[in-house]
Amino acid sequence: MKLVALSMVVLSAAMIVRPLHAEEGESGQRGLALARQVCSECHAVQPQQLQSPNTRAPTFVALATTPGMTSTALTVALTTPHAGMPMFRLSADQRQAVIDYILSLKQAGSTPGK
Ligand code: HEC
Repeated sequence: MKLVALSMVVLSAAMIVRPLHAEEGESGQRGLALARQVCSECHAVQPQQLQSPNTRAPTFVALATTPGMTSTALTVALTTPHAGMPMFRLSADQRQAVIDYILSLKQAGSTPGK
């Protein structure tokens, strides 16, 4: 009986830990959460979304697959005001998480349906 209880504990611990390892990385995950909160009002932030709510705003996959799109370019885009795009109060840390997430969509762009 004790053994059963113990293996239940081990099993449930494994179930809690596993999803974290399956994801693309902690920063990217945080970036998705932030993007959902702050950017999804206008941008399609997930690869499944084919069109942005605000049709003038590029989808994140489109941003990620833009030739020459780098972390630096995204940092500039997010620290300078753009027409139609409000300035955000993201910490440098949060900004980097969102950028990591956008760049992680490069692969998503080439494998639709991920
Ligand atoms: C209120 C609507 C709105 C929100 C919220 C918004 N955007 Fe945008 N964003 C736009 C629009 C509209 C454009 C296209 C601007 C243009 O073409 O001048 C744009 C363009 C961009 C670009 C491209 C800039 C460039 O230089 O081409 C990036 C990168 C971007 N957004 C990232 C983000 C991120 C990351 C967030 C969340 C932190 C976000 N946006 C939130 C409306 C929004």
